Amino acid sequence: MGYSSVGRWRAARAALAGTAVVMLGFASIASSQPRPAGAADRADRIELTLDAAKTGAKIDRNIFGQFAEHLGLGIYEGVWVGPDSPIPNTRGIRNDVVAALKAIKVPNVRWPGGCFADEYHWRKGLGPLKERPATLNPNWGGVLEPNTFGTHEFMDFAAQIGSEAYLSVNVGSGTPQEAADWLEYLTTAQPTALAKERAANGHAAPYKIAYLGIGNENWDCGGNMSPEYYLSQLRIYSRFVRNFNPAQQKGDGQMLKIAVGPGGDGPRWTEWTETIMKAYQGRQWSWDMHGLSLHNYTVVRWPPAYKSVGFGEKEYTEILESTLKTEGLIKQHSAIMDKYDPEKKVALVVDEWGAWYAKLPGSTEGFLSQQNSLRDAILAALNINVFARHADRVRMANIAQMVNVLQAMILTDKEKMVLTPTYHVFKMYVPFQDATFIPITYDAGAYTHGTITLPRVDAIAAKDASGTLWLALTNLDPARPIDITTRLAGINAKSAAGETLTAPAVDSVNTFGAPKTVTPKPISAKVQGDVLSVSLEPKSVTVLALRP
Ligand code: AHR
Repeated sequence: MGYSSVGRWRAARAALAGTAVVMLGFASIASSQPRPAGAADRADRIELTLDAAKTGAKIDRNIFGQFAEHLGLGIYEGVWVGPDSPIPNTRGIRNDVVAALKAIKVPNVRWPGGCFADEYHWRKGLGPLKERPATLNPNWGGVLEPNTFGTHEFMDFAAQIGSEAYLSVNVGSGTPQEAADWLEYLTTAQPTALAKERAANGHAAPYKIAYLGIGNENWDCGGNMSPEYYLSQLRIYSRFVRNFNPAQQKGDGQMLKIAVGPGGDGPRWTEWTETIMKAYQGRQWSWDMHGLSLHNYTVVRWPPAYKSVGFGEKEYTEILESTLKTEGLIKQHSAIMDKYDPEKKVALVVDEWGAWYAKLPGSTEGFLSQQNSLRDAILAALNINVFARHADRVRMANIAQMVNVLQAMILTDKEKMVLTPTYHVFKMYVPFQDATFIPITYDAGAYTHGTITLPRVDAIAAKDASGTLWLALTNLDPARPIDITTRLAGINAKSAAGETLTAPAVDSVNTFGAPKTVTPKPISAKVQGDVLSVSLEPKSVTVLALRP
């Protein structure tokens, strides 16, 4: 891809000086403190104010990243069907899935895991498909891993969807040498034995690895390490697992290294962030990191018990209340990062996020199969909005996971494929990729169900390179429509139109038989002078373009 990650990560920092604070009238509720009903809670109109000339940080396209682990039907069947399959494919990779993913402009894909990464040995995924050894996938159902989707197949897949590669190396059960060899195999342009092997396997030109994850959840499935022990590994891996291609080593093109970070809030996790960030501040020339990962699933409690379909308003509000805690989590870890890295050189990389529900009845244990409803579309919009509000620090995120696993974009069943409500949100939000954040002021109002009170409306705005202003508006209230009036400054908009996504019920889903139950439809808004007016349907996500 022709853009430069370091350049973009730098640009986000540079824009900080001009970042204004988003004034959310709902801040008290976002911190879980219900507040007395105000005018906006009762009214059916909410007023937003924005000045398109007051710009914040760049919303890095990488916050729309995906995660594809060897887990359940995520890779095998979801992406890889093999070259001999009757399902239309290109070199074994299904064409329908590739076309759908191209349309959402996936900026990066994280692979091969997840927990799988710390048990993955890359050499087993090389050579003629039929000769590859079958191994086991103990984390995810103990099923056979055929290794037919290996390094070359992953790089081919990333190229087919037009995405950059985010590779996670094995720290838990591998060695620095094994990981360094993998990187040499992938990246060197010199005629080393590993480069010759790569060429013999069909790819003479070096590959480009944009992002390198040094382990995964090494505090748990990645080896149960203490923060100090992981830090010792991070120093070693960061030193030896290099990009071995001088043309890819410097400046904007360099491979960015992402360290394992926290998996929640509370003392265990703040200690982890403190340990890594303190060491980063005091580091010597011989090791470096550019990102710290954060894993954040919306689950309410473990083990995951909420149903992904066939639920009501109670479960809708409980899940959304839980997902809105993302903002507090990001603030907590960002504050620690600010202490040791005030220039915000290290990105907070939320490289696993999304809803984790109970497995679908009848599905295989460990395959993490779940449906995807309108609730997930709203959940996705709320999380993306949080990332955008913290675009100065959150410069990459990867929803878990891309196909058939957890909060997926796509579900497949043999030759059939269906796009989920979450997919549609990612597609509607494409214009926000690399756009510049514009702060909005508003009182979000309140939506109450039982003892839970949530903001009624959530909104972000951004300006793209052509000067078009984009507004994303979510109405969380499942019963009441809301009229939005936006007072505009800094832009002379003449028209506004876009798409809105809603469905008959909060648990409406798309199925192979009824694939369009939750699908976006066109919407237009009125612009009169400096006021934009639009009416949002209950439980909806809307994205509008305001063109000068
Ligand atoms: O996404 C499923 C799993 O969740 C990943 O493998 C792991 O990193 C996390 O615990």
